[in-house]
Amino acid sequence: PSLDSLLNLDEIEELATKNIKPKSWAYYYGASDDQLTKALNTQAYRSILLRPRVFVDCSRCDMSTQILGNRLKVPVFVSPAAAARLAHPSGERGIAAACAKFGALYIISQNASLTPDDIVRDAPQDQVFGWQLYVEKDNAKNEANIARVSKLKAIKFIVLTLDAPFPGKREIDERFKYQEAPVVNGVKQEQYWGTSSMLTWKKTLEWLARQTHLPIVLKGIQTHEDAFIASTFAPRVRGILLSNHGGRALDTAPPAVHTLLEIRKHCPEVFAKLDVLVDGGVKRGTDVVKALALGAKGVGVGRAALWGLGAGGQGGVERTLQILTEETETAMRLLGVEKVHDLGVAHVNTKALESQ
Ligand code: FNR
Repeated sequence: PSLDSLLNLDEIEELATKNIKPKSWAYYYGASDDQLTKALNTQAYRSILLRPRVFVDCSRCDMSTQILGNRLKVPVFVSPAAAARLAHPSGERGIAAACAKFGALYIISQNASLTPDDIVRDAPQDQVFGWQLYVEKDNAKNEANIARVSKLKAIKFIVLTLDAPFPGKREIDERFKYQEAPVVNGVKQEQYWGTSSMLTWKKTLEWLARQTHLPIVLKGIQTHEDAFIASTFAPRVRGILLSNHGGRALDTAPPAVHTLLEIRKHCPEVFAKLDVLVDGGVKRGTDVVKALALGAKGVGVGRAALWGLGAGGQGGVERTLQILTEETETAMRLLGVEKVHDLGVAHVNTKALESQ
């Protein structure tokens, strides 16, 4: 089928599933244990109702926004995901080029299949990238990686991932097992998981701040308590990404919208101190507007970008972003909202979600 004939993100996933090798598919698709959190991520959005207003002039719907002070044309971004070349030879370069076309932020994974230098090399001057870091046991390697990306002008902030100090138990993945070691930054990884589980708020953040001038975002925050603690490290920490790693870390961990609601209730001042981003389970433009209405500044997709790449390389990721941003625009118009900034909690009914 032509990419244009694919009408939603599920249809793109279906095509990618046919194109991608089974063991790569298992790596992308899989989530932990019973995959409850993965399913809930999508389900949680569906249990929120929208509250459309009438007599609002939405003829000039404007989706532009700012994340950590960087201008973006759309509030949708691509979350860091390892090993994009398992989906298509263009890998992360294909994703980056598609993001450039839509003015979307792309957060490059530390475990990308290409080097960060290669990924940003042909990017237009105004393209915005983040770079994701796992603090690994080999500290010399951590410091060298951070120094290397801090020199790249295209990279505007560092995203430290905290929700996966250990790999989750992903059974689909285990069944397929890697027959070949994955390639990261052009190097075959014989021993893949070297993440340090000895991180602490003060020590790790002070160490990271010494390594780079770039602003820091903490990824994998899942409770209002941790969101609040993160806010006490502002302005060195400039953002948090509410995420459960697409259900790949702790199964039955909460979807990001639950955490958004907790923060609203217990420590709403966090939204003034930090840019709050979310990811996990996003399939529709209505999901995007719901997260924005609850206070998110940007909404990320992980697998959807990989499925786009698998469905048709760069063009497939473009189709994914086109569908998601067009749906977002349609949802804003029907909701009676002209600008992202005008979306607010009055646009959602979260009663069903709160009673879960
Ligand atoms: C991820 N994710 C991830 N996160 C991260 O910080 N560093 C990484 O290298 C990876 N790698 C990775 C690989 C694959 C195959 C997946 C599916 C996910 C998590 C990712 O950033 C994001 O949080 C989730 O993918 C969001 O959920 P959805 O959009 O996939 O439902």
